[in-house]
Amino acid sequence: METEFYLKAAIEAAREAGQMLRENLDASREIIYKGEVDLVTNFDNQSQQMIFDRLVENFPDHDFVAEEGLDQKKGSAYRWIFDPLDGTTNYAHRFPFFSVSIALEFNGQIICGVVYDPMRDETFSGTKDYGAFLNGDRIKVSALNELDKSLLATGFPYDLRESEENNIAHFNHFVTRAQAIRRCGSAALDLCYVACGRFDGFWELKLKPWDVAAASLIVQEAGGHLTDFKNKEFSIHSHETLGTNGLIHQQMLDVLRMANGTED
Ligand code: IPD
Ligand code: CA
Ligand code: CA
Repeated sequence: METEFYLKAAIEAAREAGQMLRENLDASREIIYKGEVDLVTNFDNQSQQMIFDRLVENFPDHDFVAEEGLDQKKGSAYRWIFDPLDGTTNYAHRFPFFSVSIALEFNGQIICGVVYDPMRDETFSGTKDYGAFLNGDRIKVSALNELDKSLLATGFPYDLRESEENNIAHFNHFVTRAQAIRRCGSAALDLCYVACGRFDGFWELKLKPWDVAAASLIVQEAGGHLTDFKNKEFSIHSHETLGTNGLIHQQMLDVLRMANGTED
């Protein structure tokens, strides 16, 4: 299968960049502030360059977009969408929870994706219609169907100090409804944890295509469900991401509706 060939290249690129990130976790780093709380390190850029170099060597005619200013358009039906370091704040503080996320889109549809966790050497992957895997073993979402027994994950947008749409109301509603909530700092890994049943649900606002492109496919291929907060079809360009095991989806939608103050 042709897609397997692309996935293999993506896995190699993610693991290579991830190894570099792991090796440099304790090294000194340059930190540049993009906003008040939004930062980037030299290792984000180095990882992006490594991934781009490897993929462009194999697929010189493809399009590429990545977080740190990469946007190469050749008019191809194939577009690589990647986050060279998801969890930059953690990485800058040497908190060992971060990932590399790479997805391939064909004619606007994600056909394969990989999220690599260098610290645990965990490779999450997915291929459209062929399932989701963790280190080569098939994964599926949890079977829990009660929100109050669920472990949820979320994150907060970088503009949380300026914007009222900062997830605090949503968080306040969920914190007394779920068993517990984690804020781990890598949306791509959070979603993969939903895919393999470690989390039962995840929600976040204002994520970018490179945060969710690979992981959203992995969740879907693991039997999970993704929508926006109003139960509309999910897209990687969505302003809202709700990813669950499917069984608690409606319960999470109900809480989100209450938090938005739009309940009947
Ligand atoms: C961030 C992480 C974080 C999420 C933020 C993202 P970055 O990505 O995924 O968990 O809460 O919204 O922007 O900046 O570390 O690549
Ligand atoms: Ca990210
Ligand atoms: Ca990033």
